[in-house]
Amino acid sequence: MDTTYTIKTSRLILRALNENDYDIWKEAHLTMLAPKNKWDVANSQFTNFSKSDFKKILRVNSLNRKNESFIDYAIIDKKTKKYIGRVSLMNCIRSVTQSSFIGYVLFNNYWGHGFAAEAMNGLFQLAFKKHKLHRVVAGIEPENLRSIKFAKKLGMRKEGVSKRVVLLRGQWRDLVQFALTSDDLNIKWKGQITQRRT
Ligand SMILES: CC(C)(COP(=O)(O)OP(=O)(O)OC[C@H]1O[C@@H](n2cnc3c(N)ncnc32)[C@H](O)[C@@H]1OP(=O)(O)O)[C@@H](O)C(=O)NCCC(=O)NCCS
Repeated sequence: MDTTYTIKTSRLILRALNENDYDIWKEAHLTMLAPKNKWDVANSQFTNFSKSDFKKILRVNSLNRKNESFIDYAIIDKKTKKYIGRVSLMNCIRSVTQSSFIGYVLFNNYWGHGFAAEAMNGLFQLAFKKHKLHRVVAGIEPENLRSIKFAKKLGMRKEGVSKRVVLLRGQWRDLVQFALTSDDLNIKWKGQITQRRT
């Protein structure tokens, strides 16, 4: 099932990108500043910003949403209507786990205004109420201090370090795991345990 929802926070809208978003998508990539650190990768996968590239991304996004491998929410600034970043649910595991990883990236010209925290609080609502997950996990490289500070600010719990868990920039790297469950936000989990295939 290809499902995304829309949520409005005080300054932002979270929703899936659609065909009408080509101009704001292109502008966001072309106006971001030079990368501020090695995780500042909003731009890196693109070579040019053609309409056909954009359509391809929308197709891939749709496929990834169907199998819940990557459910991407665009962050739109309500006032300016600009596309300022994205937050995502990644690798949803259903069955008796009902968990997913989360991702967040803001175009760097919008850092430092509290937009990312506001968007993540919206994503938690979507994750627990609409996608009916019970737990979300952020896996953060130990040197990504800005992101670690951010996860703590979001109220996420540090659970430990997974060793050599992800292949990034050519090396198997450790991730510090930060987690949150619906109970932490006093949201009653209303999902269903899906059958495991035997
Ligand atoms: C991690 C990332 C999303 C954080 O973005 P950010 O803009 O720094 O985060 P916030 O939304 O929390 O905003 C931070 C600052 O905005 C300031 N701010 C300004 N106006 C504000 C407002 N109206 N409300 C709240 N905060 C406000 C705050 O002082 C806050 O700093 P503080 O936490 O020290 O008090 C961003 O740095 C990023 O995209 N990094 C690259 C990608 C990345 O590392 N992703 C994670 C991989 S694991």
